[in-house]
Amino acid sequence: MKEYRILPDAEMQKQNEYIAKIRALVLGAKETAGEVKYAFVQTFGCQQNEADSEKIAGMCVAMGYEICSEPALADLIMVNTCAVREHAEQKALSIIGQYKHLKNAKPDMLIGVCGCMVTQEHRKEGIKHSYPYVDFVLGTSSLHRLPELIYTKIQRGKRLYCPEEKEYLVAEGIPIHRESTYRAWVSIMYGCNNFCTYCIVPYVRGRERSRRPDDIIAEVRELVEQGYKDITLLGQNVNSYGKDAKSDDGEIYDFADLLADIDKIEGDYYIRFMTSHPKDASNKLIDVIAESKHVAHQFHLPMQSGSDSILKAMNRHYDTEKYLRTVDYLRKRVPDVTISSDIIVGFPSETDEDFEATLDMLRRVKFDMTYSFIYSPRKDTPAAAMDCQIPDAIKGERMNRLLETQNAIALEKNKPMEGRIIKVLCDGPSKNNENVYSGRSEGNKIVLFDGDESDIGKFLSIKITRAETFALYGEKI
Ligand code: 5AD
Ligand code: SF4
Repeated sequence: MKEYRILPDAEMQKQNEYIAKIRALVLGAKETAGEVKYAFVQTFGCQQNEADSEKIAGMCVAMGYEICSEPALADLIMVNTCAVREHAEQKALSIIGQYKHLKNAKPDMLIGVCGCMVTQEHRKEGIKHSYPYVDFVLGTSSLHRLPELIYTKIQRGKRLYCPEEKEYLVAEGIPIHRESTYRAWVSIMYGCNNFCTYCIVPYVRGRERSRRPDDIIAEVRELVEQGYKDITLLGQNVNSYGKDAKSDDGEIYDFADLLADIDKIEGDYYIRFMTSHPKDASNKLIDVIAESKHVAHQFHLPMQSGSDSILKAMNRHYDTEKYLRTVDYLRKRVPDVTISSDIIVGFPSETDEDFEATLDMLRRVKFDMTYSFIYSPRKDTPAAAMDCQIPDAIKGERMNRLLETQNAIALEKNKPMEGRIIKVLCDGPSKNNENVYSGRSEGNKIVLFDGDESDIGKFLSIKITRAETFALYGEKI
């Protein structure tokens, strides 16, 4: 028997009772005074946070709120914060600061702050002291307790600071209000055990815990039945899926097993996943992708650095040789795969030679895309205390060179797409030009074309006429 660490049903039942009580209050106000109550959910950070925000919105809808896109309209504002880099924290604090005026204008408004930033004790304290109009704070371990917090706040009026749970468990059955009707996130596990020395995540999201396979497969099946076409399985390190739920005889139902089972669901859809850790990306997983019907030929494999000594200092547990072996096997088994990566520049003690080694790896691997980050010291992580922090000016120069190198590679990778006909899932008008429609290819590349409203959420055949660094341009055929 495999043991998955799931919150007891009784706890979720308790939260459902709070949801029902708040719903009665919220809908009561609507019936008697015709007042609709609105909730606004603001998200910072990664896809995991976006998925959590859809749960926050789901709970709000179950509590009777309507979701709005204007904070000034809201009766409840939830700020879902990120802690992965300093910049994300500063942005969230600045937004929370701006909400003071909204609260002054509408004193009944509730403001809650949740997510990774406020799972850190010093940030929770900071909110307590510097943002007295914030009504409640809850960390990542207690997201499921949002209804209880809101109800207690309404009843008692006191500000609330939800303590972190002793053990981080999987909360099944939280309602989800999805933003899209054709792209969906499905969390398959939470937390991280890796403790890369630069990273705050293991401190703010607890240890790895996997959802039960049946729960995940049922969720994906339902999404496919509802017409979802692009489903991304989420976890900090999906390659560790199932390892926390080993059976007595040591048997593991791992990520490759899960992916193979999901692939059996009939329908016209892509399955994607992120994020993979190179130390655990197995040939078994790559074989499943190669042999699958629905797994998109796209792989996000964060390399972080191309220098073996920096990888060691980062506690990544692989070297460039292992990384290249994985890429070679992936390209052998899935020749049209697009590969993307995360890169950090300016990790403590990174020398010019280390940085050159990263550029060399970019040229060798030829990533289709990279997401590059300037190293940002995070309180209480080992790297923040390391000697030889790199000056900002050098970090900035390295970042520019990295982007220059990668942009040339991306263009070189995109050029052969010209003249090809590819399958594209249409998202709608592009951000910069409403007359041009935007979508994503199987490889997750942005494709721009002349679409119309009826194309949104559909797979289209697009002939690529021009390839540029950040996008492919084409026409519907
Ligand atoms: N500084 C800069 N980038 C970071 N990342 C994680 N922690 C830090 C940090 N302290 C990057 C890594 C990770 C991505 C999600 O964010 O590249 O893969
Ligand atoms: Fe952070 Fe490393 Fe865990 Fe990714 S694997 S969340 S980078 S500690």
